[in-house]
Amino acid sequence: MIAMQKVVSWQRVLFVAIAASACYIQYYVLLGLILSMAGLWGIYLRFMCIIPSKQIRKSGFTDAKQRAMTYPAVYPNGWYHLVNADDVKPGTVVQAEGLGRKFAVWRSASGELSVLDAFCPHGGANLACGTVEEDHLVCPFHLWKFNPDGGVHSVPWLDKPPIHSNAKTWEWTEFHGMVCIWFDAEGREPAYDLPRVTGITDGKFRYCDNWEVDRPIYMHLIEYMENTVDVQHFTPMHGRMALPWTQWRLPGITVLFDSKVVLGADEEAEEYGDKGRPEILYFINTSSLQFYGRDVPRTSASVVVQFMGPASVNRFLFTIPDLGEIIMMQTHLPLNENEGLAQKVRFSWFATSGIPDALASYVVGEWVSNWWDDVGVWEEKIRRAKPKLVKGDGPIQRGRGWYKQFYSESSEKVSSPQSFDW
Ligand code: FES
Ligand SMILES: [Fe+2]
Repeated sequence: MIAMQKVVSWQRVLFVAIAASACYIQYYVLLGLILSMAGLWGIYLRFMCIIPSKQIRKSGFTDAKQRAMTYPAVYPNGWYHLVNADDVKPGTVVQAEGLGRKFAVWRSASGELSVLDAFCPHGGANLACGTVEEDHLVCPFHLWKFNPDGGVHSVPWLDKPPIHSNAKTWEWTEFHGMVCIWFDAEGREPAYDLPRVTGITDGKFRYCDNWEVDRPIYMHLIEYMENTVDVQHFTPMHGRMALPWTQWRLPGITVLFDSKVVLGADEEAEEYGDKGRPEILYFINTSSLQFYGRDVPRTSASVVVQFMGPASVNRFLFTIPDLGEIIMMQTHLPLNENEGLAQKVRFSWFATSGIPDALASYVVGEWVSNWWDDVGVWEEKIRRAKPKLVKGDGPIQRGRGWYKQFYSESSEKVSSPQSFDW
């Protein structure tokens, strides 16, 4: 009898062990299958050159003008990504729009780049419709020629060019393939520079790809910053993992977040890059995955987001354990107020040698999926000047206090359409 009991008990143990292993194996097989499918999707997108489908604005629910009135001025002082450097070939001129203005961005035959106000100081013709001759931009109307510094080089009917008729120039800098211009409501010199990533300049990271969102995003820049300090939105908005570049959810996979915000002026900033730079805000997040409520080992990944200025130029550093790093730039350029709170949004990304292009596209696509979720809320919300914050809401007021530095006395004034100068 005792022997019999022993047999039963041994069989039971074996049965339970086999059942448990089967569940365990199935759990990982299922998880592996889901993640592999998602991985193949990333590779498919990458090699078929499919960048996300056009996402239309969800509803247009909230009145655009009423909404805009709840936000501060739409052009905070800072650096803005105007064009990509490659888009302006030597001997050509292109038009760029942003900050309620039009710009003529041109490159002389010898390669010097210049950003001018698009409208000619003489009679208002659009210089972006002109041509480049050697090292001069030629206006299409009366053929005045301008130098890269905006000075008039020649007027067809004068022996000497006028000295007080310069075209307005814009200070620009090339930042990892992007031409960024400095905007200041008071017309002051740049208050900060855009810190270059040495890993990109010295070749540790290779350029992978870029993507310009195929429609304006109707939001104010400040929402982008407030999104990072609003810790309570992560789980409801981003807690379910999506197929990269889409908003299709992967079954059973949830994301856990652990995040913090460090200002550039904080002591702790040194750990993440630049210390003592008040115009920088760091957002640090570590995520891990759960599959049907159970932690999945080795899925922890971290991101450090560096806001350089008023959320106009933002750098992401993704660290993938054992593989390498990805740097992604996300830029916002406010367009003009006729369209309400409209932004042009662009992404470009770089990766270290251990990260294949498809994986980089996968990680960036995962971020973009989360970002689209936020867009759906941003495009319909107003800004509460005095939100009813409660315990645990995150450092929202700290973020707002940080953001104030990008406004000055004339910020509201320059947001209005430019007056005609009679
Ligand atoms: S309008 Fe440009 S030269 Fe006259
Ligand atoms: Fe978000």
